[in-house]
Amino acid sequence: MIRTEYTTIAPHGGTLVDRRVPVGEREERKRRAADLPRIVLGPRSLSDLEMIGTGVFSPLTGFMGREDYESVVEEMRLADGLPWSIPITLSVSEEEARAFEEGDEVALAGGDGEIVATMVVEERYTYDRAHEAKLVYRTTDTDHPGVAALFRQGDVLVGGEISLLDDGATSRPFPRYYYEPRELRAIFRQKGWRRVVGFQTRNPVHRAHEYIQKSALETVDGLLLNPLVGETKSDDIPADVRMRSYEVLLERYYPRDRTVLAVFPAAMRYAGPREAVFHAICRKNYGCTHFIVGRDHAGVGNYYGTYDAHHIFDEFEPGELGITPLFFEHAFFCLNCGGMATTKTCPHDKDSHVFFSGTRVREMLRNGEYPPPEFSRPEVIEVLISGLRQQES
Ligand code: ADX
Repeated sequence: MIRTEYTTIAPHGGTLVDRRVPVGEREERKRRAADLPRIVLGPRSLSDLEMIGTGVFSPLTGFMGREDYESVVEEMRLADGLPWSIPITLSVSEEEARAFEEGDEVALAGGDGEIVATMVVEERYTYDRAHEAKLVYRTTDTDHPGVAALFRQGDVLVGGEISLLDDGATSRPFPRYYYEPRELRAIFRQKGWRRVVGFQTRNPVHRAHEYIQKSALETVDGLLLNPLVGETKSDDIPADVRMRSYEVLLERYYPRDRTVLAVFPAAMRYAGPREAVFHAICRKNYGCTHFIVGRDHAGVGNYYGTYDAHHIFDEFEPGELGITPLFFEHAFFCLNCGGMATTKTCPHDKDSHVFFSGTRVREMLRNGEYPPPEFSRPEVIEVLISGLRQQES
């Protein structure tokens, strides 16, 4: 049988957004933008800008205006009803906001002052940070890194469509592993993968991660290992060290023809359940049909229940999100089972489970101590220890 076409999953909202100005027009547009009022973006907004521009955030075509913002905070939906769980906003100070009017075009610049995009300001509006924190992060505690970032934002939000003038707008981290949604979709198509499972991570891949990835891969055609490489909190393992650890692991333990490693250039929000939904939607835009949600997905400290990020998916009608979440319970190596298992599949008690918290692992790595091979592949630990040593020297 000749299959002429593979059906790929539709992007969220139906169309893959592309807000990049054609290459031939960019210089002229940049020249004209030099005379416009300018907003300088921090790393988080730059990464949001890039993801809007390349379609990772489809159907968003710009930073949210008030109606979408309020609807997302209150209802987890855009104003037109489409599910969306995290506000994507651009904040400025009151003084910066006075430099332009609604309807004006403004230039968006990176930290080095280089203009990377323009935006037509549709709206300037004030917002209630504590309210957003409570509904999106489920806490107003500023010890929470996502809430802290929210409280550092400017007082005014600016909404409007953007036009990306520079492909290197945010310096494109890890170019070898950087793919836009259209590129990843083409790769999946070319590989003939119809069912692709996406895996989000901000950590090294330990045995528990490997176990849930491979359990999922047993039932689909391919695995997208999609580590987040945007801003993370300072005690998370740096992205360059993690990338080396993924390379080593894939080389030794993963089937080459069934795995793609690609970076997810987003900033980490640590919004737990809300971020799990957001992560799933972004992976759908990359072309994944399935998405792994394990224990305390995108969580931090004790702000979220272990499986809150599973339960939140019940708040949507079946099929509304389009992508299918694959839920996994807490995974570990069980000495009695003699293999990897989860709380769902292992009948033994905790004493036979080999598990360490992230904090404990970081402490061991700093002391040059190897967690046991049941917890992590020694090759991965080697990369992490030498990465930490380099950092310290
Ligand atoms: S996250 O912030 O990106 O979610 P992490 O990189 O630790 O953190 O997790 C990546 C994915 O693996 C998430 O879906 C998370 O729920 C899942 N996960 C991490 N550790 C375990 C574990 N021991 N058992 C089951 N799922 C896990």
